[in-house]
Amino acid sequence: MYIIYGGTGGIGAALARRLARSGARLHLVARDPARLKALAQETGASFTAGDVLDAELFARVAADAPGPLAGLAYAVGSINLKPLSKLTESDFLADFRLNALGAAAAVRAALPGLKAGEGTPAVVLFSTVAVQQGFPAHASVAMAKGAVEGLTRALAAELAPKLRVNAVAPSLTRTPLAAALTSNEQMAGAIAQLHPLQRLGDPEDVASLAQYLLSGEAGWITGQIIAVDGGRSTLRNRG
Ligand SMILES: NC(=O)c1ccc[n+]([C@@H]2O[C@H](COP(=O)([O-])OP(=O)(O)OC[C@H]3O[C@@H](n4cnc5c(N)ncnc54)[C@H](OP(=O)(O)O)[C@@H]3O)[C@@H](O)[C@H]2O)c1
Repeated sequence: MYIIYGGTGGIGAALARRLARSGARLHLVARDPARLKALAQETGASFTAGDVLDAELFARVAADAPGPLAGLAYAVGSINLKPLSKLTESDFLADFRLNALGAAAAVRAALPGLKAGEGTPAVVLFSTVAVQQGFPAHASVAMAKGAVEGLTRALAAELAPKLRVNAVAPSLTRTPLAAALTSNEQMAGAIAQLHPLQRLGDPEDVASLAQYLLSGEAGWITGQIIAVDGGRSTLRNRG
């Protein structure tokens, strides 16, 4: 069984559908029970409804999905874009709790189930292109996701050889999280042109790598932060 936090989101639901099609059993976690119920019906998943900002959620998930587990993905996140002068301490702390502390707590609660899993179970976390490449107005999310990258490497070292831990770092991907930036087609087109591959990400672009990292096919990959970003983080754009 795989636990997917944020399993009803753009990327999380694409991952859930892919894993379900491959015959995997799933346990989904998110706040909205109606969306959870609908996707659970479609994929045969079980689910826990709750907020990762409530510390009690993680024990409930562990009770609902005790394992043995094949893997865990933490596809919860935020895009809170403001210049430094507008960011409050509570903005920074909220992004850190949602993206980084939530991921650490989710993995900690799942450890007994993961350690009981067959072979080498895997954890997949989500960073962002904005850690590798600096962008204006991204201080809070870049700090929080930078912590996710550190967590990925630290846990990969600590939990080897039984578990693998990797992260996926997407650029702008068409999901509800990114709607403020992608729903205006003119703005979306302008951002797409900033990518060497000249388009925005699709949830399937990101979910396919997450599925691979969760699978035994990636059995010798751990401690890696892998970009799915149309070349944005590492390539000079044309022009
Ligand atoms: N989309 C992008 O452009 C982009 C770029 C870089 C990185 N990422 C990262 O990729 C990952 C997936 O993002 P996405 O675009 O798929 O996001 P999304 O479409 O907004 O989905 C987020 C998921 O997390 C759940 N969620 C949100 N807040 C929660 C909370 N407080 N407690 C429990 N569940 C919560 C949502 O369901 P409920 O609302 O029902 O709780 C939903 O299932 C995130 O880590 C994000 O930071 C995305």
